[in-house]
Amino acid sequence: MNVPSHYQPGFANEFATEAIEGTLPVGQNSPQRVAHGLYAEQLSGTAFTAPRHANRRSWLYRIRPAAVHEPFRPLAHATFHNRFDEAPATPNQLRWDPLPLPDVPTDFIDGLTTLAGNGGPAEQAGVGIHLYAANRSMQGRFFYDADGELLIVPQQGRLRLATELGVIEIEPQEIAVIPRGVRFRVDVIDGEARGYVCENFGALLRLPELGPIGSNCLANTRDFLTPCAAYEDVDGAFELVAKFQGALWSAKIDHSPLDVVAWHGNYAPYKYDLRRFNTIGSISYDHPDPSIFTVLTSPSDTAGTANVDFAIFPPRWLVAQHTFRPPWFHRNVASEFMGLIAGVYDAKAEGFVPGGASLHNCMSGHGPDAATFEKASNADLSKADVIGGTMAFMFETRKVIRPTAQALASPQLQGDYYTCWQGIAKHFDGGNKP
Ligand SMILES: [Fe+2]
Repeated sequence: MNVPSHYQPGFANEFATEAIEGTLPVGQNSPQRVAHGLYAEQLSGTAFTAPRHANRRSWLYRIRPAAVHEPFRPLAHATFHNRFDEAPATPNQLRWDPLPLPDVPTDFIDGLTTLAGNGGPAEQAGVGIHLYAANRSMQGRFFYDADGELLIVPQQGRLRLATELGVIEIEPQEIAVIPRGVRFRVDVIDGEARGYVCENFGALLRLPELGPIGSNCLANTRDFLTPCAAYEDVDGAFELVAKFQGALWSAKIDHSPLDVVAWHGNYAPYKYDLRRFNTIGSISYDHPDPSIFTVLTSPSDTAGTANVDFAIFPPRWLVAQHTFRPPWFHRNVASEFMGLIAGVYDAKAEGFVPGGASLHNCMSGHGPDAATFEKASNADLSKADVIGGTMAFMFETRKVIRPTAQALASPQLQGDYYTCWQGIAKHFDGGNKP
């Protein structure tokens, strides 16, 4: 496999990387004196006593410890928050058009808008679902989220994520995960950028169990890429923005906090190319449940019932016989937030466009629209269908996803979404009674 030079392959491996050779201590974590006059600092992403298979921490060797900054003060942000109780949760099917790109200078943090969520950082469960739209790089400011890890799903434009543990570049159809607490800066490579963020307050995202599928398929471990160490030795008048218990805080800092020269451990950011997903589906009849498309999962305290699953609907062949091939009509105990990165989603003829979003909450009926139903009911199943050039995704949660007040008041909310099912005809023949 061709691994770009500044990445290390694997998922939550015991990585070891140094930007200056000979920096990592040998055989211990915190020597009396660290090489090159650096400071040793442990960054823990799980409880110290978490089971070994789930325990995540890294040791950082850095120019200054993370403690060196002035006090934090509250920082107002009109649209980025965790207030999921502002409006009554609704059983209605909801759909939004894409967030417009900004027309004034807006960086990644400025450009975050919270669409929905559940739970919160205080209960260490649930998710925040945010959109971002930005047109400039973060200038002289850095960010970390103490409330959860950030799963970033670009829809338009590449991002350069300069983090304490190294640099990640992602483009649409790739995703990145920034762990809770890791400081980073977002550079907008193409002038404009837009996408989705899942802020995970619960257990860290991990690869799903494969059960009878076996030891391969879905997202393969070696396709996850973690950056090699890279550091900035820069002094200046900078801002460190923290998200803490649902609100933003700002502190002055006189140097770049991206000053980690070397690190080792298994708590680190990573990226994954969704086009590498090994998609599994039916080769006889009927549909497997969409859990077959899970890329990453954040488990809850109940076995098999995720805090959040990140699933995708990538290009694939549909070959099932005597089967309605598109995603079928359904109601779930889980709640489903969907986004579209590229192309057309095969259960909707129109209205769900790249950059848009839909929300189908617990037990809300949904499925193909009328046009898709008629087409697929009459399709020639002697031929395979190729679903190409598309990438949709879902954040599926065990708790109801509560739209924010701003999401329900948004001009992007499609008031007529429900009409896509109104044309579904009654075909019942009465049981052929005379
Ligand atoms: Fe669904």
